[in-house]
Amino acid sequence: MENRKPFIIANWKMHKTILEAVQFIRGYREHLKAHPAHVALAVPFTAIFASAEAAAGSPLMIGAQNMHEAAQGAFTGEVSAAMLKDAGASFVLLGHSERRRLFGEDDALINRKALRALECGLKPFICVGEMTSEHDKGRNIVKEQLLHCLRDLTPEQLRQCVISYEPIWAIGTGLLASPEYVQEIRQMSQELLVEHWGVEVVDRVPILYGGSVTAENAKEFICRSNVDGLLVGGASLSLASFMQIVDNVTEQT
Ligand code: PGA
Repeated sequence: MENRKPFIIANWKMHKTILEAVQFIRGYREHLKAHPAHVALAVPFTAIFASAEAAAGSPLMIGAQNMHEAAQGAFTGEVSAAMLKDAGASFVLLGHSERRRLFGEDDALINRKALRALECGLKPFICVGEMTSEHDKGRNIVKEQLLHCLRDLTPEQLRQCVISYEPIWAIGTGLLASPEYVQEIRQMSQELLVEHWGVEVVDRVPILYGGSVTAENAKEFICRSNVDGLLVGGASLSLASFMQIVDNVTEQT
């Protein structure tokens, strides 16, 4: 990757109690003295407040993994963007494939959530990715997802966003996408952003990769694919392996 600070995002999914989250963050802060990467932790709702407190005064970003699209209302069990912000989140993952696949979220909903998140001062980290491993089909699906998920965002709003390309067949499967293909997707996405939002957004919207990233493959992958960072699921749960990913990736930049 070029000479930019990479993004490394942990997606803890439905893992970690408050205590476990805080211990992880304390451990991370103890070990990492320099900050050569933008590091963000997408933690469970219940751990946001304590995680934000544990991360206070450090560049570590704390965020959520989902939110409801409405500002407020009779939506039993849901959490709004304003509540996330109030709890200390600075970003929210939107459109993760598990949300799409298991909870029926579609691009239009993700778009409404992104607009609401922006209105409340949360950065949307928008996930896209295809189910098929057929490359040509995959490229078109990602293009459509981007256009729909980012619909009606102004260039200024788009500059608050992070895009994560996560081919569904690579998530939690041990099947890493090929760096060359991911580089192609990144380039296609950048061209689409320029075409629809103007050239000034392109260097400001990081495009990441997620899917079976580990401490062993992170460094080579990021170099060969030229992505702006990585979204890490399983390998972000242990502090040792997450730190290893941060160390390995930042050695290269
Ligand atoms: P994985 O998950 O790293 O465990 O494949 C990635 C993700 O779900 O974003």
